Amino acid sequence: MAAKLEKPVQELCEEIREDGSDTRTEESLGHIEEEDITFFDVDLLVEHGIALDDIKQLKKSGINTVKGIQMCTRKKLSTLKGFSEEKVNKIKDACGKICPVSTAGCFLTGLEVCEQRKQLFTLTTGSKNIDKIIGGGVESMSITEVFGEARTGKTQLAHTLCVTAQLPTDTGYTGGKVMYIDTERTFRPDRIKPIADRFELDSNAVLDNILYARAYNSEHQYELLNSVSDKFHEEPGMFKLLIIDSIMALFRVDFTGSAEMTERQSKLGLMLSKLQKISEEYNVAVFLTNQITTDLQYSLINDLDIKPVGGNILAHSSTTRIALRKAKGNVRIARLFDSPKLEEQEVEFVIRNGGVSDPEKTE
Ligand SMILES: Nc1ncnc2c1ncn2[C@@H]1O[C@H](COP(=O)(O)OP(=O)(O)OP(=O)(O)O)[C@@H](O)[C@H]1O
Ligand SMILES: [Mg+2]
Repeated sequence: MAAKLEKPVQELCEEIREDGSDTRTEESLGHIEEEDITFFDVDLLVEHGIALDDIKQLKKSGINTVKGIQMCTRKKLSTLKGFSEEKVNKIKDACGKICPVSTAGCFLTGLEVCEQRKQLFTLTTGSKNIDKIIGGGVESMSITEVFGEARTGKTQLAHTLCVTAQLPTDTGYTGGKVMYIDTERTFRPDRIKPIADRFELDSNAVLDNILYARAYNSEHQYELLNSVSDKFHEEPGMFKLLIIDSIMALFRVDFTGSAEMTERQSKLGLMLSKLQKISEEYNVAVFLTNQITTDLQYSLINDLDIKPVGGNILAHSSTTRIALRKAKGNVRIARLFDSPKLEEQEVEFVIRNGGVSDPEKTE
């Protein structure tokens, strides 16, 4: 089922503003083409002989698309109620008929991968300096993690991204909605207004496009991800960013001591695997904030004086990791710590009322 994007936020803002103060026009922004993203709904399986009850069962477990099924192992699918090995095989075969390109065992050429990656987009962090070291901004279909001690700007970055995700660009990105999962109760709608003003967006329209959920414990945080994929499925192509601030806070409370560490890491692994799938299935950017701890041995090996929590499971799941630290006044330092394609570098940024931006001299 093909899904067309509705109006970009900028257009909505222009409609909402009565005083006509917004000077942005389509000409000034360049022509923005609507994205054409094709999702294959699990409902299509009915045409390939899959029972409605089984489709219902898939949806109940947060699997709404054919790609979602293809990203699940047969073992995982067979844990669903009434799903025998034979049934799982039948469903997998049906998916292969609907969407053969991504069927397991089908290789793509490097050029085809290049073509596929054209649907990726990047979101500006509000700081050109940070955007530069992470390759243009926070990228869709991948997980970006920022970690640092308190007051280094992790939540401010999350708030800034809530706004910039809604900003159309002259590269054809139309802007979109944001899903915000808050585990620390630090989301502040009133922080959005000055940031929206800075980017000349209507703050009410911006707030209306942020879907907020408070997670109360690590299990609830995991369950919320099913609602996230349901929502992304309900409004295909509309959501561009999923934020979790912070990924580890509730896990650290719910699992204490070394005896519970294995269980914690295994649950964390499930959550991160789900996040990775969501980011690919719906072409959204996933932005996680993370806490730190001190570990002298780790610091010596990695040339950092802090260590992100979450261990190897989180380290391997995050595509891009950025370490933040404080400098003088409102200045902060961001260091690209782990990236599949870029060298490690560090830059300065500042936190202002208008959100994260660059220090004066580089703006
Ligand atoms: N409106 C604003 N204008 C300028 N600076 C602000 C504004 N609001 C917050 N800050 C600054 O942002 C910093 C806090 O950043 P943030 O809340 O992102 O920290 P954090 O890294 O998320 O910390 P924690 O680990 O405690 O969650 C503080 O130094 C605060 O003064
Ligand atoms: Mg915070």
